Parts: sequence; structure tokens; C-alpha cells
Amino acid sequence: MPASVVTREEWSRLGFLFAAIGSAVGLGNIWRFPYMVGMNGGGAFLIPYLIGVVVFALPLMLLEFYTGRKFRGSVMTAMRRIDKRLWPVGLMPLVLSTAILSYYLVVSGWTLAYFLFSFSSYPEFHSFVSGLYPLLFFAAALAITSAIVLRGIKHGIEKTSMIMMPVFMLVLGILVLNSLTLPGLSKGLSFYLTPDFSYLAKPQTWVMGISQAFFSLSVGYGILLTYGSYLGRRRNIPKYSLQIAGADTAIALLGGLMVFPIVFTFGLDPASGTELSFVSLPQVFQSMPFGLILGTLFFLLLFIAAITSAVSILEVGVSGMIDELGWSRMKSVGLLSFAVFFMGVPSALSFYDSGTSVLGMPFIDFMDVTFGSLLLLSAAALSLSITWFYRRKLFDFRRLLGLDLSGAAIFLLKYVIPPVMILVFLFDLFA
Ligand code: PHE
Repeated sequence: MPASVVTREEWSRLGFLFAAIGSAVGLGNIWRFPYMVGMNGGGAFLIPYLIGVVVFALPLMLLEFYTGRKFRGSVMTAMRRIDKRLWPVGLMPLVLSTAILSYYLVVSGWTLAYFLFSFSSYPEFHSFVSGLYPLLFFAAALAITSAIVLRGIKHGIEKTSMIMMPVFMLVLGILVLNSLTLPGLSKGLSFYLTPDFSYLAKPQTWVMGISQAFFSLSVGYGILLTYGSYLGRRRNIPKYSLQIAGADTAIALLGGLMVFPIVFTFGLDPASGTELSFVSLPQVFQSMPFGLILGTLFFLLLFIAAITSAVSILEVGVSGMIDELGWSRMKSVGLLSFAVFFMGVPSALSFYDSGTSVLGMPFIDFMDVTFGSLLLLSAAALSLSITWFYRRKLFDFRRLLGLDLSGAAIFLLKYVIPPVMILVFLFDLFA
């Protein structure tokens, strides 16, 4: 008998909330969101982003949670239970998430390395990535992620998230308070938040806002569906979803409040994503009063953000193997980690010596571009298949202020969200 039929672990009330927020809050909140805001009309960017969250990401989040809970199985199992022919739609997120994990853990490894470097001194980034350290720290980040997932939902993912997320919020709070004391505060804030509404006329702004919402809430990867499959019957999914989306957005806003005053105090370039975290900020920390402590805290923050997301991606594949193949958690984690390791080696060595590259891009960028956008198609396929093939009622929420919200969500998922995702995919491909 497959393991899923015997028993399925269940989240505690807070454990689920912290684990889902842990998945949503990632590197995207700390540097990607602030940079998107800065580059796309400041405060005006919040309009497409919030529309992205409410109209696109939230209905998908609800769909994933409800589908996972209803079918009590990981992506592939749930899709097969809806209709036997849908298994490839369930297989896609399994393959994509494993590929994504292989390079996500490389960047997680960088954050771990920089956290440890904070105690002595930071190496120059380019010499760091051209050595073998990235491979070592990738392996370490993978080992930590696997060890957490190996212990299961309650004792592994839930317990770690309940410890790590409060630490994350405390550290973020300290760093934000510190930023509020810097001389570049007002310049930083005006760059960050002064709305320039002319940006709303550009399609680019809308594409960025909507994709940032998808990315930031981790929808479409099958993660939320998998997490939903461990959710008890009586848990209030709409309420959780609002809390998760609210916390993720608030943390993204705080991320900007932390980063921009530093950027403007020290004359850094606000538009440099990865460079900012690993090149400019370390230099600043080294020259700042209390920089040692601030640097340690900053990389601890990034590392926690990365690991709690990595754990959720690994769980998609692991629970897929447990449910579909009837394997033990041990065997599933072992084999999948092995696969992730081999897949990740070229990413970890992207800049080693003369480097690994595909199509003229460093290998890790190639993975990011390819799998990052394929995911939009996979999410569109999930949304289309569930809403068209499952004919019974999926959502149990109804009216709010006289509006039939569950009908509205299904309408969006059937007719609006998939074509928009495909458009965003095409825009990503050609623009
Ligand atoms: N939501 C994460 C972020 O904001 C990114 C992520 C996507 C993590 C998918 C896990 C899975 O950085």
C-alpha cells in the first residue's frame, strides 16, 4: 500500500503559516522587490504588483491549497485523481522544481559562505565564484535542506520554520531600524517610493509587477499544492492565504526600507541585483561602524530566506516520490538530493576557471532564464486543467460584501490567468 494511504502528516495551525511564509519569503523579497520598485516608477509600481497579488497570485494560491487538501496528494497524484490523462501536467512541476532547486541552492550556498565570511573578512566576489568554494557551499546548503526535509513535515519543515521565521523577522527589524538612522534615508525613500505614474502606461511595468507577484508568492510550482495536502479539513484556507500574501508583501516593503537608505548613504547603484548583495554591500559593511554585526545579520537574513524556500521546493519532489512510487521518505530524499547535486554542479561551477556556459550565458543564468519562464507555462497548465477537468465545487468560500468570490476566482482561473501567464511568458522570451 502506498505510504500516503496509511497516514498523512498534518500541519499545526501556526506551523503551516510559518512554513508557507517561509517558502514565499525568499531572495525575491530582499533584493528583487526593492529593485523592481526602484526601476519601475517607485511607489507607482505597487499598483501593478498589488493587482498581481490579488487578481492573479491569490486565486492560484487558493486553487493549489484546495486541490492539495481535497486530493491529499502531491502534484502528480492530485492531477491523476482529477483525471488519469492529466499526469503529465503533474509531472511538469516535479521536474521543473528539481531543476530550479539545483541552482537556487547554489545561490543559497553563496549566502551561507558570506555569512561565515562575516566573521573574518569578505573575499572579492569574482575571485570567490571562480574558485571551488561555491561547490562546497552548494553541497552544504543541499545537505542542510535535505536534513530538514528528511525529518518530515512536523518534525522537519514545521519545526525549522517555527524557529527560523521569528529569527528572520527579528533580524529584519534590527536592520530596518539601523537603516532609519542613516544619512541617506530621505534620498533612499524618495527614490524608493515617490510614485511616477507615467510608468503605468508601459506594458513592461505590468509584466514586471505580475511576474514579481507570482515569483514572490511561490505560486505555480506545485509547492502550495504539496503543502496543502498536509492541511487538516477544518483549517480556513482563504484566511491563511490572505495572511501569507499580506506577510510576504509587508516583508518585501521592509526589504526596500532596509536596502535603499544603505544604497544612497554609500553611493551604490540601486539597480544592481546580485552584485548589490555580494559585491557592494559587503564592501560597505566592512567600512561601517558595527559593520561586522550588520554584515553577519544581513547574510543570516538571506540564508534563512533561501533555506526555508529551498526546503519547500525539495518537498515537492520528495512527496511526489512518496505518493507515486510508495518509497520511504529516506529513500526519496536520498535519491532526489543525489540528482539535485549532479544537476547543480555546472551551476556551482558557472564561474570556475574559464566557467561553464550555454548560449553565451553563465550556466546558472541559463538555468534561471529557462526554468524561471517555463514555470509560467506549467502554472498555466495547472490552472487550466484543474478548473476545466474538475467539475465539482472546489472552493468552500462564498460571498463577501454581496460578491460571489469563489465564482469570481474560478472565472479568473479558467479564462484570465492562463492567457495572461502565456503572454508574460512570451514577453519574457522576446522582450
Ligand atoms: N518566493 C521566493 C522569493 O520570493 C522564490 C521562490 C519561488 C522560492 C519558488 C521557492 C519557490 O524569493
